[in-house]
Amino acid sequence: MSGLQAGWVRRNFPQRSCIVAAMARKVQTAGSAADLIPSHPTLESLQKTAKGCKACDLWARGTQTVFGEGARNAEVMFVGEQPGDKEDLEGKPFVGPAGVLLDKALAEAGIDRRKTYVTNAVKHFKWDPRGKRRIHEKPDSIEIAACRPWLDAEIEVVSPEVIVCLGATAAQALLGGNFRVTQQRGQVLPFGDGRRVVATVHPSSILRAPDEDSRHQEMQRFIEDLRVVAKIIDGAK
Ligand code: URA
Ligand code: SF4
Repeated sequence: MSGLQAGWVRRNFPQRSCIVAAMARKVQTAGSAADLIPSHPTLESLQKTAKGCKACDLWARGTQTVFGEGARNAEVMFVGEQPGDKEDLEGKPFVGPAGVLLDKALAEAGIDRRKTYVTNAVKHFKWDPRGKRRIHEKPDSIEIAACRPWLDAEIEVVSPEVIVCLGATAAQALLGGNFRVTQQRGQVLPFGDGRRVVATVHPSSILRAPDEDSRHQEMQRFIEDLRVVAKIIDGAK
């Protein structure tokens, strides 16, 4: 609801004014990074501008914006959920334990990480304190929507052949709320202007597997999904 609409409702339905005020507050917090995107974006200008983003409340909790990085015209773009503890401190995506696992799986699938671009659906670390530790908290739909313009701009500038969603947050951001990674992982789907998208699990879910056997199995399935991606880019050459 715009301020004008809110004013109209307040004048015509004065008894609803507290509802209107609540809605207006909600609109204020439901921001978007859209206004910050430069008119002819480059990776450098995006990264620089994103440093100052306050489009949702997460900027205050994280140490810094963790923007995507990687090869300028990468054929593959990986999209995770949000930076973790180590990424937040270092300012780089997928450099913690999940990143180490991703690197291993990429090597097994024959994909060179240096030729890819790696980013996240949300660019700030969302966490809650538990003792001295910072515990990962899932970003909500308002935060994902607020951050989406950065991801869209990255896709536009890098122009990858294939986008790989790592986990449900990235998949639901790009493929919609009805997408189910468990049922549709590894499928090659069309995305926008001639691109393709493949969704798979988040590497952190493999780290959380309850025992060595299931961890091994999950890793093999993850590598299989990445081999699907490797085939697409090999086929495009
Ligand atoms: N998990 C993510 O989704 N992204 C990172 O960058 C690190 C961990
Ligand atoms: Fe901006 Fe995204 Fe950080 Fe929210 S999470 S402040 S939208 S960069």
